[in-house]
Amino acid sequence: MFDKKLLNKKNIIVTGGGTGLGKSMASRFSDLGANLVITSRRKSVIDETAKELRKKGNKVIAIECDIREPDQVDEMVSQTVKELGSVDILLNNAAGNFISPTENLSPNAFKTVVDIVLNGTFHCTQAAGKVMRKNKSGVVLNIVTSYAWTGSGYVVPSACAKAGVLAMTRSLAVEWAKYGIRTIAIAPGPFPTKGAWSRLAPPGMGIEKKMKAQIPLRRFGEHEELANLATFLVSDQASYINGEVVTIDGGEWLQGAGEFNQLEKIPKAAWKLLEMKRKKKKKK
Ligand code: HXC
Ligand code: NAP
Repeated sequence: MFDKKLLNKKNIIVTGGGTGLGKSMASRFSDLGANLVITSRRKSVIDETAKELRKKGNKVIAIECDIREPDQVDEMVSQTVKELGSVDILLNNAAGNFISPTENLSPNAFKTVVDIVLNGTFHCTQAAGKVMRKNKSGVVLNIVTSYAWTGSGYVVPSACAKAGVLAMTRSLAVEWAKYGIRTIAIAPGPFPTKGAWSRLAPPGMGIEKKMKAQIPLRRFGEHEELANLATFLVSDQASYINGEVVTIDGGEWLQGAGEFNQLEKIPKAAWKLLEMKRKKKKKK
């Protein structure tokens, strides 16, 4: 689907790029010629992923960084510029999340998630944005989720933080367009990863089954599908897309939103009966 050189020589930072969806998107970017910095807190994890991705032939650098710490983020971006020469694209993918009744959350539980997702995204955007503004060119792609606008019980810190990231996306799309920076977002529905599933769908609670039943396409997303979308959006082929959030969820959030969508559960026989009654009434 993509030209093999679509992202040739683009320098891309992927936060949380050692695991899950970040790794899958980074892998696709590398296939298409990009140089990468992948960053997260666990050095051994990003080192392992970098080693794997380097086999594709392009530069992959692993830099340990806790995105909650602005000094570490500045250092990570400086190192990126030193080693790759510049930053063309920032993928804000790192996140923290868990399910919990809100009444059980401590102040630190709420703060921890907001610090990673919202403040961490801000620190990375600010640091990479400085380089992009100087270059008069850049793309910031933020990973949110559909409950950024619907909200969701049991993941309140994440919902608040992702809503903030969505607001940041739309705000900077306008404010930083003058510097040649596009700011965009993707809202994925459920895509199985170890990080998300271990925290959000622990076995024995039937959560996975309930999630699937809520998706009109009746399946979870595949990493390749998300990687395709992210690749298009960060590429120059999407050069007029700015401030948009693209949902990739098999129709999940709309299924929950449409007033009468639950009528899907009504058996065909009941519809037939209703139709017969309507026709009978019309004849009278
Ligand atoms: C209630 C919890 C909790 C839980 C942690 N805490 N887990 N409270 N229920 N399940 C509380 C702790 O008690 C502590 O508060 C505070 O949160 C910080 O916890 P730590 O373990 O000290 O924090 P830390 O080591 O920094 O780890 C951060 C983390 C962890 C967010 C808690 O889960 C993590 O590292 N996550 C990174 C990866 C991740 O979450 N991936 C999934 C993304 S999926 P106290 O008061 O005790 O100090 C995603 C999908 C969205 O976002 C959409 C799906 C459709
Ligand atoms: P994941 O594998 O757990 O990815 C999260 C990554 O963030 C990890 O690599 C983690 O690495 C990194 N991270 C966490 N805290 C960090 C910090 N303080 N500093 C730097 N890095 C940090 O989960 P995933 O499912 O792939 O999620 C990726 C993104 O997709 C997230 O933004 C998530 O909200 C979003 N999303 C996922 C789904 C889904 O169904 N999977 C759905 C919608 C949205 P370290 O632990 O090494 O730091």
